[in-house]
Amino acid sequence: KILILDFGSQYTQLIARRVREVGVYSEIRAFDMSEAEIREFDPRGVILSGGPESVPAPGSPRAPQVVFELGVPVLGICYGMQTMAEQFGGKVEGSDISEFGYAQIRQVGNRGLLHDIRDHYDADGSGLLDVWMSHGDKVVELPESFELIAETGSCPIAGMAHRDKPFFGIQFHPEVTHTLQGKRIFEHFVLELCGCQALWTPANIVEDAIARVRETVGGDKVLLGLSGGVDSSVVAALLHKAIGEQLTCVFVDNGLLRLNEGDQVMEMFARNMGVKVIRADAEELFLGKLAGVNDPEDKRKIIGNTFIDVFDTEAAKLSDVKWLAQGTIYPDVIESAGAKTGKAHVIKSHHNVGGLPEDMSFELIEPLRELFKDEVRQIGLELGLPWDMVFRHPFPGPGLGVRILGEVKKEYADLLRLADDIFISELRAAGWYDKTSQAFAVFLPVKSVGVVGDGRRYEYVIALRAVETIDFMTARWAHLPYEMLEKVSNRIINEISGVSRVTYDVSSKPPATIEWE
Ligand code: XMP
Repeated sequence: KILILDFGSQYTQLIARRVREVGVYSEIRAFDMSEAEIREFDPRGVILSGGPESVPAPGSPRAPQVVFELGVPVLGICYGMQTMAEQFGGKVEGSDISEFGYAQIRQVGNRGLLHDIRDHYDADGSGLLDVWMSHGDKVVELPESFELIAETGSCPIAGMAHRDKPFFGIQFHPEVTHTLQGKRIFEHFVLELCGCQALWTPANIVEDAIARVRETVGGDKVLLGLSGGVDSSVVAALLHKAIGEQLTCVFVDNGLLRLNEGDQVMEMFARNMGVKVIRADAEELFLGKLAGVNDPEDKRKIIGNTFIDVFDTEAAKLSDVKWLAQGTIYPDVIESAGAKTGKAHVIKSHHNVGGLPEDMSFELIEPLRELFKDEVRQIGLELGLPWDMVFRHPFPGPGLGVRILGEVKKEYADLLRLADDIFISELRAAGWYDKTSQAFAVFLPVKSVGVVGDGRRYEYVIALRAVETIDFMTARWAHLPYEMLEKVSNRIINEISGVSRVTYDVSSKPPATIEWE
């Protein structure tokens, strides 16, 4: 396995994903991991990430000296290269001008990390690589024990290699896709230089996870809150495969789910797979508590707390459950660690449905804790979950509760479910579902005039929202074809009595959020 020491770059997670794509397990830890912990981790190679700090600044972070004494290859990227240079006696200088974006680097010699990796040749036969740069500081003097392996006009020391040890530094970012040969560079480092084998495959991940779950829980019973979302569904499938009857799932139907969603979850897990699922039909309870409540944050709190109450009540009916399973995934783990140490400079806020009460006397089991979302999806497929479920758009915990503006009523939820279902089926039929990151209908409790035949209708408005995004922090409204929007709008107005007008939301995030509330 590969150890990635994080100096706070926004790209650190990408490094871990690239290494895993090559088929080798990698973990991200803070740069100040202790020597004992590093030795215990026992990496086959170490990668030092980029970071926002400046090496010449007093008190700026350094790589733990032990990584250079383990006898394994070390790769420094950007800040990682700069601190490596400085720690071996080279010199780094700050600069007012920062370089950001595409660059072409020229190989010097054909050695080390970049051996035989190139996109073009220049006139004298040296390899050229198209790469992505993002830095202010740079190495201006190589340490004596290092030699130059790459240069550019604006950055004469763009890559370096130790003369007799497998230590490498590169100023550019191989982890971003703009660096065309990034994958090849990681393969070379991880497989050839570190000598790792490509064993991190979906089948192995599943096999491993099953063995670990069995070892951890033994013969004990496990409880899981199943929402029908990707993460909890994959946990359900995995635990069912690992411990069968010892698993009980609780599925809370809060009355704010999509059309037929509750039935579909029961059909897939309880009927088809034979998972023990308790369905708690709590629509009336939720809608009762939401009556008269208009404020979005109040609605979120009520839905979250009611969920916990219902889940608690169901759990209390079960005897001798020792474990509570959760669908926590690796980005959640890294982000909350980052939040604690203040090392990650970009921290996403999580607004999942509440936590569970502190006094629940369960031990936690989180079998996806080490996996990125794309890996969770891969193992979902490996476990036999259908494609449509594994590649589903995210659905917020409060569900339709935040897609009905203002007060939530059953009448509104029923109309919205029908409209949403028409929109999503048409998106799927037109091949646009997989091209958008999230799409849904929103219910506006205002009335608008329309005419049908000779009659005048005075009914509700539905807004359609579809966005493209990578990280859900920023998003662009999807440029759906007019013909498709036309068809969706006609179907909604004609098939749903109670809706007389459909609009399409053309706001990007920021400033608008993805959800309307
Ligand atoms: P916004 O609306 O903040 O949404 O741009 C970003 C992403 O977060 C989801 N979202 C939620 N998820 N509980 C959740 O579990 C919530 O209260 C919540 N609010 C927004 C939203 O669907 C989108 O994917």
